[in-house]
Amino acid sequence: MTDAAGAPTAGERMVVLGRLAAPWGVKGWLKVHSYTDPPAAILDYPVWQLARPGGGWQPVKVVDGRTHGAGRDLVVALEGVLSPEAARQFSSRDVGLRRADLPAPKPGEYYWDDLVGCRVTTSTGCHWRPGTSRKSTSRRSASSSTGIRRFSGMDAAGPRLSIEVVTLFAERVQAALAMGVVGRALERGLVRVGTEDPRALTTDVHGTVDDRSYGGGPGMVLKVEPLATAIERAAARLPAGSPRIYLSAQGRRFDQATARRLATLPGFLLLAGRYEGVDERVLDEVIDEELSIGDYVLSGGELAALVVIDATVRLMPGVLGALESAEQESFGAGAQGSLLDWPHYTRPETWRGREVPGVLMSGNHAAIRRWRLKQALGRTAERRPDLMAGRELTIEEQRLLDEYREERKT
Ligand code: ADE
Repeated sequence: MTDAAGAPTAGERMVVLGRLAAPWGVKGWLKVHSYTDPPAAILDYPVWQLARPGGGWQPVKVVDGRTHGAGRDLVVALEGVLSPEAARQFSSRDVGLRRADLPAPKPGEYYWDDLVGCRVTTSTGCHWRPGTSRKSTSRRSASSSTGIRRFSGMDAAGPRLSIEVVTLFAERVQAALAMGVVGRALERGLVRVGTEDPRALTTDVHGTVDDRSYGGGPGMVLKVEPLATAIERAAARLPAGSPRIYLSAQGRRFDQATARRLATLPGFLLLAGRYEGVDERVLDEVIDEELSIGDYVLSGGELAALVVIDATVRLMPGVLGALESAEQESFGAGAQGSLLDWPHYTRPETWRGREVPGVLMSGNHAAIRRWRLKQALGRTAERRPDLMAGRELTIEEQRLLDEYREERKT
């Protein structure tokens, strides 16, 4: 590895190894989100390039670093950064290295970043396209000795949906997003989710983000600054046409139609509030819409942000195995429209004396379709009559609903 003491010149290829998070402790250390594999490998590099807020990179020496908190978190000390206030200037900055400074991968290993845009086939016959996700610098080794067999460059595409979450709990949001369908979409580079923590932008020793409410009363209110700056910084990373959405119990109800709209956008920003709320002037100045996930009050907007992201990302083409699987679910845009889902069964045929409905094993596709529509109509009428109120039934649907009700009587 060469000594990367100087800043990279324009046009040099950089790879992002991680991101500096909140200050840690009283001596100016910082937490680090590492994208390397294993995470502690980021500490192998004694000089990091830190992304400057206005563009470009700045070299900084890593004087100490270790794992903390049962090995889950990484913390580092940077040269010349000796207080939490000094450390805060570095929060939310990407940690990079010149590609040329990374050591050559071992046989059978590839840097993820080098494969972005390629169609990769592993020795086990698995296909995937590495995307520009946060795992971009992992040195992936294939489990078998032959490793990744074949790849050819094509389709180098960035994420189709770019999301930013402004939150005081960025690490927890990122950790929750790493699971399941959304985690896979992130890993495949179909979606990008960035976070911005207003506390990282505070200038006082206590990292104050809230204050008492004018007019009195219990509870604290998120102050205009640093919140507005955090929103604007995050918004600057989004493509044009990305709305800024505040999550609160006062918002318009988030529903499947809204998820469908968000899934067609190039990006959006979610502001997760905390405490009693946000100074109204921030909402007037920098927020485009307000959404609620239901008629109850959460302690903060983070869970709501996760709900919105999950419901939206799974609707994007290519995220689920087959597009129809999203379309045919409850509230899907498929033929079923705004109906609840029908019941599902799998093997065994009999379980504790309960049988799978015979029609599902008949192989008669028309009869299966009819049965499923009948169940969806019946369940919706029983459980969510509000969804039926705005729906004009076709003659077939009315007949199926009557049949359902008749069968329930017997
Ligand atoms: N924050 C607090 N309660 C909320 C809700 N119901 N939906 C969205 N954000 C919230």
